[in-house]
Amino acid sequence: MNRLLEKFFIFLLLGALLGLFFSIYWNTEITDHEEDWLKTQKDRKDSLHSICQNKNFSSSEKKLDEYVARQLFVDENYKFIYCEVPKVGCSIWKKIVLLLTLNLSRDVFEVNQDEIHKTNLLKRLSSYPSKQQQELLNSFTKVMITRHPLERLVSAYRDKFLHLEPYYSITVANEIKALFRKNKNLTGNVTFQEFVNFVVTRDTKHLDIHWKPMFQLCDPCNIHYDILGKYETLDQDVSHVLSRIKAPQRVRYPNSKLYTERTNKDITTQYLKKLNWDQIQKITDVYQMDFSLFNYSFTVRMEMSF
Ligand SMILES: *[C@@H]1O[C@H](CO)[C@@H](O)[C@H](O)[C@H]1NC(C)=O
Ligand SMILES: *[C@@H]1O[C@H](CO)[C@@H](O)[C@H](O)[C@H]1NC(C)=O
Ligand SMILES: *[C@@H]1O[C@H](CO)[C@@H](O)[C@H](O)[C@H]1NC(C)=O
Ligand SMILES: *[C@@H]1O[C@H](CO)[C@@H](O)[C@H](O)[C@H]1NC(C)=O
Ligand SMILES: *[C@@H]1O[C@H](CO)[C@@H](O)[C@H](O)[C@H]1NC(C)=O
Repeated sequence: MNRLLEKFFIFLLLGALLGLFFSIYWNTEITDHEEDWLKTQKDRKDSLHSICQNKNFSSSEKKLDEYVARQLFVDENYKFIYCEVPKVGCSIWKKIVLLLTLNLSRDVFEVNQDEIHKTNLLKRLSSYPSKQQQELLNSFTKVMITRHPLERLVSAYRDKFLHLEPYYSITVANEIKALFRKNKNLTGNVTFQEFVNFVVTRDTKHLDIHWKPMFQLCDPCNIHYDILGKYETLDQDVSHVLSRIKAPQRVRYPNSKLYTERTNKDITTQYLKKLNWDQIQKITDVYQMDFSLFNYSFTVRMEMSF
């Protein structure tokens, strides 16, 4: 009898494994109307703050974390501060800040990538004396934009390891291969599975900025962002930010539908399907706070098929 049950159970388990089926739920509250948009903002902030309190994530210390202060960029003219979360359309933000600061009327796409990185117009909050840092935080409009944690992870993997960015596709890639390839064959790209194994074995504090959990980059439990934007609703969120800071009409965020080969939900799902159950659990654990604070979800459904 026990044997039979055991066999039946194994059979069920195999069936379930074969039918692993992923679904990622996006938040796509598309709200162009000011009132709806404000309501959504309020919901996002309320939900974040209540989770911060429940988890006891707000520290009583007033002091701003030095690491976080380096993630925050300040624009004095338009009085806003935005937190940089790489892989969340951040270089476009830098372009906007540049256009605003230089008072140029150019399409953000025309601004050269090198121009941005060379410029020192973008000041980090950390470059101000600490007393002034707090004043700026209290008076400027603070913005943070998030993205589905696993989509951001896949996007980082594709950008850094499949495109030829030497630091990642050589240096970091070799580190990962040395750790996870038993045969020490270092040819070929780092696979997504290898990348995930690497991410889950590190302390999140020491993860690269491109895949470090978003809440650790921007500390939203202690910095009360005025605007919590999402990549998933980027067009509306950015246009509201621009009008909130009274940016001139000529500075526009490009419609995100313009980009094509971006990492989207389908591509993300394809990559996630390469992972085993253990990897899925570990990687969702890494981003657990990002999932809950920013209201993203991810479920693996088992489909029984006989
Ligand atoms: C969280 O996401 C769900 C599903 O996308 C949505 O219905 C709900 O309103 C969101 N909650 C908050 C507080 O934003
Ligand atoms: C919250 O954390 C602080 C220290 O960071 C601790 O003193 C306090 O007891 C904690 N509260 C709860 C309810 O866990
Ligand atoms: C920015 O440029 C516009 C014309 O392109 C001009 O009208 C405006 O006064 C300028 N603003 C500043 C602050 O220089
Ligand atoms: C290393 O792996 C690549 C593909 O992954 C393969 O083509 C190559 O033959 C391997 N080299 C050795 C020495 O095993
Ligand atoms: C590595 O990935 C790139 C981009 O997808 C691809 O063009 C290339 O063929 C891959 N290299 C190997 C050795 O698989």
